[in-house]
Amino acid sequence: MIKQPKYIYTYIQHPDEFELSRMEMRSFFGFDTKENYIISDRRVDPSRSPFMEDRLEVYFEADSLEDLEQSLKTWQLNDATFKVVCLNKMDIGNTKKIHHPERRKIEKQIGLSINGEPDLNNPDILLGLLCINDRWYLGKTVKAESIWRKHLQKPNNFSTALSTRVARAIVNIAIPEPEGVRAIDPCCGIGTVLIEALSMNVNIVGRDISPLVCVAARENIAHFGYETTVTKGSIADVTEHFDVAIVDLPYNICTHVSLEEEFEIIRHARRIADRVLFVSVKPIEDLIHKAGFVMKDRSVAKKANFVRLILLCE
Ligand SMILES: C[S@@+](CC[C@H](N)C(=O)[O-])C[C@H]1O[C@@H](n2cnc3c(N)ncnc32)[C@H](O)[C@@H]1O
Repeated sequence: MIKQPKYIYTYIQHPDEFELSRMEMRSFFGFDTKENYIISDRRVDPSRSPFMEDRLEVYFEADSLEDLEQSLKTWQLNDATFKVVCLNKMDIGNTKKIHHPERRKIEKQIGLSINGEPDLNNPDILLGLLCINDRWYLGKTVKAESIWRKHLQKPNNFSTALSTRVARAIVNIAIPEPEGVRAIDPCCGIGTVLIEALSMNVNIVGRDISPLVCVAARENIAHFGYETTVTKGSIADVTEHFDVAIVDLPYNICTHVSLEEEFEIIRHARRIADRVLFVSVKPIEDLIHKAGFVMKDRSVAKKANFVRLILLCE
């Protein structure tokens, strides 16, 4: 049994969100990869990411199934019941998808090598078996729950709102570790970012200059059973200081926003928060530097021909 913590996360990414997903990896793990899996000693709840599929906490690893069986012989699961599930349902790294009948066969083979009580319906522990680049891994596995999917059907929607997946990813990028962090979305629109953040226990409040939008955001948040305050007013009138602000800048689609007004929002974001994640549909790097920010990381989130810049600044 391996001693050091080691987790393998598998990913399913749409090409349009690939760069955003890699930025989220950098935030969670300190590095990224172009592969659809990442190995790290950091433990992250896979349900936080809209791109993660499974998390495997590695207990054993070997170069072949036979070697893995040998290592399992001396392992005692005590009284816990277990089930083995092979996670190679898709290509992972250079390893091709293992088809259903073959997966069942391997699960049975490994299950029979484990000293313990199997329970295929309601096991105490779900053991994942994963082959990546000819190496086999076995350990406790957790499947990501697509919580963002539950938030798709809001009572109020906006054509310029972020998608729930993008909103969730940017919360993770801005606030990888929510413990003790106070955050604000000062241009919150209908509350897409707020809802994703609240569902991950992030301490966040909202604000918007439009009274109608504030009402819509409050309704949306209450609809999912979350609680926070959404105040009506400009970012210019925020007097509190926050650790993090997530600012999805007005798009100039429904309302006209001049360059001066845009700079005002950026300047006030600098004033009210230590760390700011900006979302913008046009280049704003000059304004960001002029406001005194240093850019820490960046990526893009695409939707057909529509590109949003995601800029993490401190
Ligand atoms: C792009 S939308 C935000 C959309 C939001 N992220 C969502 O997904 O629902 C920008 C919002 O900024 C608000 N806004 C514009 N100027 C503002 C200001 N000075 N202070 C606060 N909010 C402002 C607009 O009313 C608009 O709702």
